[in-house]
Amino acid sequence: MAVSGNAHRRSASSAFVSLAVVVLACSSFLTSSVAEAASPCSSHTFTGNGGGRLYASCADLPRLGATLHYNYTAATNTVAVAFRAPTQGEDEGGWVAWGINPSGRAGMVGTNAVVAFRRANGTLAAYPTVLDSYAPSMAPAAPGDLAFPVSGVAAEHDAEGKEMVVYATVVLSGGKGSKFTQVWQRGNAVVNDVPAAHPTTGDNVLSTATIDFSD
Ligand SMILES: *[C@@H]1O[C@H](CO)[C@@H](O)[C@H](O)[C@H]1NC(C)=O
Ligand SMILES: *[C@@H]1O[C@H](CO)[C@@H](O)[C@H](O)[C@H]1NC(C)=O
Repeated sequence: MAVSGNAHRRSASSAFVSLAVVVLACSSFLTSSVAEAASPCSSHTFTGNGGGRLYASCADLPRLGATLHYNYTAATNTVAVAFRAPTQGEDEGGWVAWGINPSGRAGMVGTNAVVAFRRANGTLAAYPTVLDSYAPSMAPAAPGDLAFPVSGVAAEHDAEGKEMVVYATVVLSGGKGSKFTQVWQRGNAVVNDVPAAHPTTGDNVLSTATIDFSD
């Protein structure tokens, strides 16, 4: 898969390299199991409020049943993304997040993310946030806090509460090319309109990969 296949070409820490080996070792198994569990991303059509949105590329991400759809414009080094992840059913709880770690490290800390969740009053929240520690505030970022300008952030939740989507357009840093470390996550709880910590084991701590948006 494109999301993990480039990992070994990066100069990176040994932790990153060993993660990449694990991802590569698991990717063929996961590709087949994900394919059985859910439709491949290329067959997905955006309906609802996002109806009609079209993306040239997509990747079935190797953890958490998540998918990234994206449109990369090389001339402006800009990428429009739609990140989809499963949410809990009936209570419509939980949150989803996707981001880029500008340091290139395959980890949460430093990641510039967009997060989406349902507030207690029933409306959907969607905004950029900087994950500045392992216990981030999850507060909306001020534009100056972000390593990449982010616009067009919006969220959508399907009627059955099975999946949440967060949309965003990211201007990738000048001169840094099109290859980045992406990090994604989902959590089951939102407390006082703030996303609560996700599990810290298993796929929830392995949900990172490199992506070349120009592929
Ligand atoms: C993606 O690019 C295609 C082709 O330029 C365009 O038709 C489409 O509207 C773009 N989608 C988004 C979400 O920007
Ligand atoms: C829901 O809560 C948000 C955040 O406090 C607020 O901005 C929004 O106006 C509220 N919407 C409704 C319909 O109550």
